[in-house]
Amino acid sequence: MSTFSKLEIDLRQMIIAIETAVSLVGMNDTNHGKRVGYIASQLGYQLGFNDQAIQFSFDLGLLHDCGVSTEQMHSHLVNQFDWCDAHIHCGIGYRLLKDFEPLSGFAIPILYHHTPWEKLNRLDVSIQDTRMANLIFLADRVDVLAAGHYETDILLAREEIVKSVTNYKGTYFDPEIVNAFHQVEKSEAFWIALQDRHITRYTWDMSQFESSKLLSISQLKQLSLILAYIVDQKSPFTAQHSVGVASLARYIASSLGLLSEQCEKIEIAGLLHDLGKLHIPDHILGKPGPLSDIERAIMNQHSYETYEILRHIKGLEDIACWAAFHHEGLNGVGYPFHPHQKELSIESRIIAVADIFQALVQDRPYRSGMPLNKVIDILDEFASSGKLDQNIVDHAKKHGEECFEIAKGNS
Ligand SMILES: [Fe+2]
Ligand SMILES: [Fe+2]
Ligand SMILES: [Fe+2]
Repeated sequence: MSTFSKLEIDLRQMIIAIETAVSLVGMNDTNHGKRVGYIASQLGYQLGFNDQAIQFSFDLGLLHDCGVSTEQMHSHLVNQFDWCDAHIHCGIGYRLLKDFEPLSGFAIPILYHHTPWEKLNRLDVSIQDTRMANLIFLADRVDVLAAGHYETDILLAREEIVKSVTNYKGTYFDPEIVNAFHQVEKSEAFWIALQDRHITRYTWDMSQFESSKLLSISQLKQLSLILAYIVDQKSPFTAQHSVGVASLARYIASSLGLLSEQCEKIEIAGLLHDLGKLHIPDHILGKPGPLSDIERAIMNQHSYETYEILRHIKGLEDIACWAAFHHEGLNGVGYPFHPHQKELSIESRIIAVADIFQALVQDRPYRSGMPLNKVIDILDEFASSGKLDQNIVDHAKKHGEECFEIAKGNS
């Protein structure tokens, strides 16, 4: 009797994984969401929130930038106090979460987390959502002002930061939240805790508290679709890639006769396999030509990043491996783990075939999508060199037309 359908994943661990993934877009600063969550929860504590609301404000901080996939958008948001296009990522984040019940409560505050308080007050938004949205707005802007100072002179820079925030009291920010900030910021500990070493430790500690919500396998799939969308929209050339790999891997798995729960998990691994690409600079992903050695060296780190995001989630250990092994070859040629052949499960082998298949049919910046016969030739070559599993490649060839349409996103 299979235990697959009993798979249940802790929602808190998934929220932290979403933040870890989305924060990778920050390149050399990957703690923005964690710091905003921390600042918001400290303000919540000062404002007398109950435990549940404090937890909500922390989680909201972790999730608030889930609409940011590109390095370019990230840099506008963290380098400009008042960027005119800030509303775009608020709308994307809102649309991503609004229909996913376990996280839908975060959608409205995310939609308004860059809306000035005086304007938000006049909209038809509940007091609770207004407060949460404005709490994140203030926490987010404090982090933007403080970002360059954490590891050095933060205890000196805080005075200027407080002045800047106070200038917007009653216009951008709820006066009550600004007052709470004045109380909280008095303690040096508040600022020191925001340094990289401390904030990662704090977030790790928070992940140890199990949330009261568990995700079923179908909810996990829904959430994985959201994450796949975040990755796929990073570049027009990878649009639909994760979704295409997932559908193709599922099709191959089920036509090979694997159990339906196993197919479901393979599809989830396919959706998540390129999460680590969020850490690849936009110009490398969109480069209209072959990558240089240094660009290739950066690119080849992405499947390790995928593993690092997923491996901490209890119950997701096998999916983490299947996803992270998608560039490994049976012959040891591949990256980055070089597992022994016997450690490359059938699930990993299927995803490796689906990944190459989908990538070949898709237009890339330096070439257009290939026709089926060319895809088959290349897969055959990989199979005969021992990189891909011959049986799976033969199976994909046998069902070539179907695989091609699925990889193209046509069925
Ligand atoms: Fe932000
Ligand atoms: Fe990949
Ligand atoms: Fe991929």
